[in-house]
Amino acid sequence: MTNSPSSSPSGRVPRDLAPGNFGPGSSVPPLALSGLNPPSRPGLFDGVTPAPVDPIFGVLAGFRADRREEKVNLGIGVYCGPSGLTEPLEVVKKAEAQLAQRHERPGYLQPSGHAEFCSGIEALVLGTESIASRQGRVLVRQALGGTGALRLAGDLLSEVLGVQQIAVSRPTWENHANVFSLAGFKVVDYPYYSPERRGLDFEAMLNGIKALPPRSALLLHGCCHNPTGVDPSAAQWHQIMATVGERALIPVLDFAYQGFGRGMHEDALSAKLFAASGLPFFVAQSCSKNFALYEKRTGAMIFVAENQADIALAAGHVQRLIRGTYSNPPADGARIVAHILSNNNLCGDWAVEVRAMRDHVDQMRQRLVEGLKSRGVDFSYGLEQRGIFMYPEFSPGQPERLRAERAVYVLDSGRLCVPALNARNIDYVVDSIAATA
Ligand code: LMR
Repeated sequence: MTNSPSSSPSGRVPRDLAPGNFGPGSSVPPLALSGLNPPSRPGLFDGVTPAPVDPIFGVLAGFRADRREEKVNLGIGVYCGPSGLTEPLEVVKKAEAQLAQRHERPGYLQPSGHAEFCSGIEALVLGTESIASRQGRVLVRQALGGTGALRLAGDLLSEVLGVQQIAVSRPTWENHANVFSLAGFKVVDYPYYSPERRGLDFEAMLNGIKALPPRSALLLHGCCHNPTGVDPSAAQWHQIMATVGERALIPVLDFAYQGFGRGMHEDALSAKLFAASGLPFFVAQSCSKNFALYEKRTGAMIFVAENQADIALAAGHVQRLIRGTYSNPPADGARIVAHILSNNNLCGDWAVEVRAMRDHVDQMRQRLVEGLKSRGVDFSYGLEQRGIFMYPEFSPGQPERLRAERAVYVLDSGRLCVPALNARNIDYVVDSIAATA
């Protein structure tokens, strides 16, 4: 007879593993099973309504559960190459191989994160010549991806600075309201995309921002607006900045797609302008897309202050907030990014790979628009949109029909992820959109 590891040769449970025995001198009484859940006691979750299904991850779950072979996932924002699959970047594989030679010992990072990662991200986002950096007005803290960075900025604004309201664009990334309401904010919105103009309604946007009470936080998309792909021009960024200054607003730039718009440096224009302005602001940076480090949850919160004294105060409170939520961030992704950004050759390889990703997105965008045009559907305005998303005007209920009838998964907003298209599925997607229009 074989014994399970927890049973004694006699088949009896050893005395030291018997239920209720918590070791020598234990005073914890055995469980009184008969007292559990008396019928008169209300259930713990009585009166709790179910949480809403996440508009992005819910679509992903639906896609994964779908058994149809022809299914296409255009819902979630991940980059897929021509193979139709997500792949690690070659430069990341190279960096990982080089890092493996270092035989790093396991241990904790500081709550602030990996120091070289933070300085690399500062230069990447604000540029190497940033006056704010030279003046010591920049605080960078590693965060759990872009979402974690948004939440960290939100916690600092709400818990420490007492900011109560944040304004987000209409429309915006589906998770913004969730992140900021959990951080204690009242979330309001300002006009942004105009379906009539099929683009930015800048006048309405500016008026909306002007109407916000001073000390409101203002969520802006640093580049590649999610979901619309419509960004302000350089001249418009200048006007936004002036309004922010006049109204004493606190911008939070969501910055998850650097490199997917017009170029690595070009996409950082908004952050660089704000950094040069002397106004305080935050950036929530993400390495999920441009380093393909999705599940390594690698990102950074950047705070640019008006003066060094504010940086010192912010640093202490951010340390406390991180320590009180997840203690310290994971090291893997940050080590990889730090290694790439601090090595000229790897950095060059990375820039080439990001460029190739951007080119692939542009090609697939073009092919979708052309394919639809040949079927009498005009999405030509989608060619102006930047980043990995396209924001087509679907007819009412069309996103749902695409999912149900054709197994083509787009978000309810209509947002679709362009690099999830490839040579094998594009014709099917074109047919499906045309058939459900
Ligand atoms: C998206 O917008 O689809 C991605 O940023 C993934 C996410 O977390 O929602």
